Amino acid sequence: MQQKIIILDFGSQTTQLIGRRVRELDTFCEILPYNKFPHDDPSVIGVILSGSPFSVYDPEAFQVELSAIRGRLPILGVCYGAQYMSHIYGGKVEPAPSREYGRANLETIEFDNPLFKGFQPNSQVWMSHGDTITAIPSGFRCIASTSKVKYAAYQAEGEKLWGVQFHPEVFHSLQGAQLLRNFVVDICGSRQDWSAASFVDTTVAELKAQLGNDRVILGLSGGVDSSVVAVLLHKAIGDKLTCIFVDHGMLRKDEFANVLEDYKCLGLNVIGVDASRKFFSELAGVEDPEAKRKIIGSGFIDVFEAEAMKITDAKWLAQGTIYPDRIESLNITGKVIKSHHNVGGLPEKMNLRICEPLQWLFKDEVRRVGRQMGMPEHLINRHPFPGPGLAVRILGDITPEKVHVLQEADDIFIRGLRNYKVKMDVAQARRVLAAGVPNGAPDQGEIEVSLYDQIWQAGVILLPVKSVGVMGDERTYEQAVALRAVTSTDAMTADWAHLPYDFMAQVSNDIINHVRGINRVCYDISSKPPSTIEWE
Ligand code: XMP
Repeated sequence: MQQKIIILDFGSQTTQLIGRRVRELDTFCEILPYNKFPHDDPSVIGVILSGSPFSVYDPEAFQVELSAIRGRLPILGVCYGAQYMSHIYGGKVEPAPSREYGRANLETIEFDNPLFKGFQPNSQVWMSHGDTITAIPSGFRCIASTSKVKYAAYQAEGEKLWGVQFHPEVFHSLQGAQLLRNFVVDICGSRQDWSAASFVDTTVAELKAQLGNDRVILGLSGGVDSSVVAVLLHKAIGDKLTCIFVDHGMLRKDEFANVLEDYKCLGLNVIGVDASRKFFSELAGVEDPEAKRKIIGSGFIDVFEAEAMKITDAKWLAQGTIYPDRIESLNITGKVIKSHHNVGGLPEKMNLRICEPLQWLFKDEVRRVGRQMGMPEHLINRHPFPGPGLAVRILGDITPEKVHVLQEADDIFIRGLRNYKVKMDVAQARRVLAAGVPNGAPDQGEIEVSLYDQIWQAGVILLPVKSVGVMGDERTYEQAVALRAVTSTDAMTADWAHLPYDFMAQVSNDIINHVRGINRVCYDISSKPPSTIEWE
């Protein structure tokens, strides 16, 4: 049975990060709303209570009954989680005289406590709380303090129950990962057997059992998530999977043909639908960004549905939903606040059931699974690309000619990013590359990485601006493009990538010399916020 840690979410912004840290210990975990503990699940080996934006005294603070868990499973309370347990078991929590925020050092530590195995004296931790514990319940023992926070950590005597007021999950708690390892591996007894290989084996077996001989439909986008779902399903049910890949005409240069070819090489049964004419005609003359998005969104659903309806024996609709999509969709009261089912009313119309085999994975885990199944590296390390495609990178109205000009410029930029290689220490590459390092990378030494691999996302924007230039002896009056390349870890915030000047010079030259209709290239140096990654 797959062991798991449950993280009860009391609403802190760092709850997901706790999940990441647990997964990094090759241990499966689920983040659940604070009041949704799965009491009848025998695979749970430990519980972590997250932080919260609330004070334990707030009337709307989340309260939960822990008596069925305490004494049965190891518990670690983090920040609010620690304060909450102290509060309900008879300790005292009060507003701190000044907010305790930022770096602090554990000046006293009970070094032989299993939670602190391997800790250094004065270990740096990160605090972020307005309240503080001023007395711990009787039967609880203080096991670490900072100069300002007496009860930085406690344990219930003789019990596997701990609370820490600092945040072990954040980078600035320098031994936070060690603390979580101590809890998850030593205290809870994780076998650390979550791996991409075990995930593939278990999931393929589960899919076989779940789907039997049923036919499944899957929409492909060329992106990592839907591609990995396709390969997993193909392993489980072979030709009983039918994939639909729609070209709305706003894809990158040759992307439809190339990706279709990739899919066919992977042995997938794919129907490619070229619907570009429909989209160009519906988009003609439309300038408003939201109107463009709506036309593409609903047009996409129409085309997808029309194709899917032809597959009359389908029983399931598979989707590339991944864990962060679900976390966004569920607030901690368990209510869906944003739907990710982007194929309209198809499940109801065709009476299809939903199959989402990646719903528990983070993006980098999806990539590990893809690599494990031998998928080509260029499908795995692909940058994110917006659903409406180049339509949101052409400011103003869209014509096939403008798309063509943009595709050419974009192709030069992206190929340039892929071809410009630098040497990087492999340990650093593992840390900084959004898509991770390819299979077979050495454990030590240097590897070659491209600029493409070092950035989160890149593209070219066609501006509705003409400017004067001179080419040969002739005056030109042509359009300008902006190059956009950003670094990010989650697209919520982003910084413009500091691309080498020699690279930018070469790309600018290549675009102006080879793409007719463009005589000026700019580089976008805005961060998000206050700007966004896309221009529309
Ligand atoms: P922004 O521009 O909001 O983009 O900073 C954040 C991320 O979302 C992508 N994006 C979209 N993806 N449909 C999508 O599927 C859209 O309408 C859309 N708009 C932005 C964007 O490329 C970036 O990765």
